[in-house]
Amino acid sequence: MNVLVTGGAGYIGSHTCVELLESGYGVVVIDNLCNSNAESLNRVQKLTGKTLKFYEGDVRDVALLRKIFAENEIGCVIHFAGLKAVGESVAIPWKYYDNNLNSTLVLTKVMEEVGMKNIIFSSSATVYTADNEMPLRETSRTGNCTNPYGWTKYMTEQILSGMAFADKEWGIVLLRYFNPIGAHESGDIGEDPRGIPNNLMPYITQVAVGRREFLSVYGNDYDTHDGTGVRDYIHVVDLAKGHVAAVKYVAEHKGCEVFNLGTGTGYSVLHMVKAFNEANGLELPYKIVDRRPGDIATCYADPAKSAEVLGWKAEKNLMDMCRDSWNWQRKNPAGYGK
Ligand code: NAD
Ligand code: UD1
Repeated sequence: MNVLVTGGAGYIGSHTCVELLESGYGVVVIDNLCNSNAESLNRVQKLTGKTLKFYEGDVRDVALLRKIFAENEIGCVIHFAGLKAVGESVAIPWKYYDNNLNSTLVLTKVMEEVGMKNIIFSSSATVYTADNEMPLRETSRTGNCTNPYGWTKYMTEQILSGMAFADKEWGIVLLRYFNPIGAHESGDIGEDPRGIPNNLMPYITQVAVGRREFLSVYGNDYDTHDGTGVRDYIHVVDLAKGHVAAVKYVAEHKGCEVFNLGTGTGYSVLHMVKAFNEANGLELPYKIVDRRPGDIATCYADPAKSAEVLGWKAEKNLMDMCRDSWNWQRKNPAGYGK
């Protein structure tokens, strides 16, 4: 079966392409490269010894999507394509609503036309409200998002679940990711953020490689064991395997189901720094600074439903995540740029 992977050249998409190819699926990618480099797909093919088909273009381009569905027999879509920088979404909300909502609307319109109605969507733990008890279950409260990026994830979930309610032929899986970090163990593919990284691990690895002076730890006065923010970090290869499990699930189940993809364990920022140092024999410089607006103290998943229903569980540990993140950065100090 062929899987259409939108945004397949990106961080999570490229790792998912590897797992799909290694599980015997054919892979067709559409990506406009607005936040990625086609080199990632060359490396996916070298790593797996298998080929994939790549269309460079925008998911909002209805003619291109019709051409892709006409030229390939697609059995399932994984929809990663989207913009994800929280701060930018506050500064340029229209760009985020246009890209993230219209890509899904155009994609599902063409899927409807061709009668192929299996889709897996990249949602986020950001859809949960800040006042939930931990761990977060799929039934925890959602909404009250604090930025347009979060709203696009929330709204897309509403759009897709409404479609599944109205038309029983749709098979839809909404995957709520917690905090993906790490890289393929080869160090050949990984996260290559443009500009100054917003997220913790890419910032840490850029400090370690000498591209940034020190890590700013955003606040040490949270209600957590050491005062710094606690998150559920998940290895990107485990996350990618969760998508393969979802492809199998959606082939056999109609309707709309939501799954958390997390480990169920939260680590603080200072714990992450310590683990990174231990895993890699480094001494990372850091400074405690003010809290980052919009951050919450603690966020971690209850991954029980994914284990029970998808038969998926994260297997890699924090040392694997820290070692693989650094291995990728060390081998590719300038990302795919070099
Ligand atoms: P990424 O930026 O590395 O990958 C997204 C890819 O989509 C990029 O290659 C980009 O060029 C492409 N793209 C964007 N808009 C497009 C469009 N209109 N047409 C075609 N291609 C387009 O991001 P990622 O970290 O791999 O995230 C993948 C998905 O998972 C995103 O939807 C993101 O919001 C979601 N997500 C990511 C995280 C995270 O921490 N990385 C957490 C939760 C959810
Ligand atoms: C961020 C986004 C969230 C998105 C998620 C995954 C914000 C406010 N939230 O969440 O919407 O779904 O990424 O892409 O941007 N930290 C530092 N120093 C840094 C960077 C981070 O101390 O330089 C801390 C943060 O305060 C937090 C933890 O590290 O406690 C993790 O931060 P980050 O990787 O940005 O993820 P989230 O805050 O979970």
